[in-house]
Amino acid sequence: MPAQTKGKIGILACASGEVFAKKVLAGLRDACERRGEMDGGHPKIIHAEEKQFANTELKTVISESIRGQDVYIFQDVENKTNALSVNDNLMALKTAIDAAKRSNAHYITAVLPVFPYARQDKQISREGITAAIVAREIEDAGAHKVITLDVHNRAIDGFFRKAAFENLHAAKNITEYAKKEIDCDNLVVAAPDTGGLGRANYYAGLLQRPVVAVYKQRDYSRVSTAQGNNIEKMYLLGDVREKDVLVVDDMIDSGGTIIEAAKLFRQEGAKKVYASCALPLFNANAAGKLEKAAAEGILEKVIGTDAVTHPDSLREKGWYAEISVAAYFAEVIYRLNRYQSISELLG
Ligand code: R5P
Repeated sequence: MPAQTKGKIGILACASGEVFAKKVLAGLRDACERRGEMDGGHPKIIHAEEKQFANTELKTVISESIRGQDVYIFQDVENKTNALSVNDNLMALKTAIDAAKRSNAHYITAVLPVFPYARQDKQISREGITAAIVAREIEDAGAHKVITLDVHNRAIDGFFRKAAFENLHAAKNITEYAKKEIDCDNLVVAAPDTGGLGRANYYAGLLQRPVVAVYKQRDYSRVSTAQGNNIEKMYLLGDVREKDVLVVDDMIDSGGTIIEAAKLFRQEGAKKVYASCALPLFNANAAGKLEKAAAEGILEKVIGTDAVTHPDSLREKGWYAEISVAAYFAEVIYRLNRYQSISELLG
């Protein structure tokens, strides 16, 4: 008897999500072939177009029937290769979800490795909780599920009223790379702020190494300029003397957190500092700053994933290693489509 599925898998790529979508599609085909399941045809990209009006409004037009399909809509809101902003990309995602809903897709999953506005997850003083607004907008557009990667705050799950939320983790891919490429015998895993301690502890467990943390104070009256985010002071909690350090973060945005943490570890006697993140956003000339830090010996290497699309030139840099999470996403989607458990993929 054929396995029960949510319908034929269809991959719908927003313009900014296309590069990662195609990699995941290749992974899905491998997942099917490994299991000898090619008879019903491979999962395919749905033909669609993202149009932009002269006034910058975006619209998605799906040019084939997707009635009854299990549709995965890929969007990389941080893709800088096509000059669309985070807000443009978020809007494009919503137009794609709405188009899929009105085309009678059976089930719609937004694959959004970077959840936009995730750092606006709690109220400090007179601020909005914008991550909650984004969650509601995505489900109101018609998404039944959202898949993210290392979301800034797991509590964002609770901002959805109807849609299901799956938060994937790059930890296994990154620690596998670290085991192969870094001498882990002398390694300490570090969180660049106390909010990231749970994540660092998890990496430390996978690598069976000790964990330290940085206590980071930001001046919120000065946060988020085009030049980067303002950090006031950093204090080390733990000992890194004569150790190599792997600092793990959910994202590198302006690069300020990682570079300041690396400087602190070096001042405190660390021999080498490696940095890793699931989401290499690299805004505000972060790549230039990280390259300089590597040239000055502050950082050994930065490890990121292909969940955020960058130009080929970045992958040619000696200081940067991009590891792929596409096969991981593909396996998750394969199993979700067949109502199979994914819990072992989330650990
Ligand atoms: C902060 O809480 C986050 O986990 C990251 O550490 C931060 O957003 C990275 O931003 P930046 O690279 O601009 O310091």
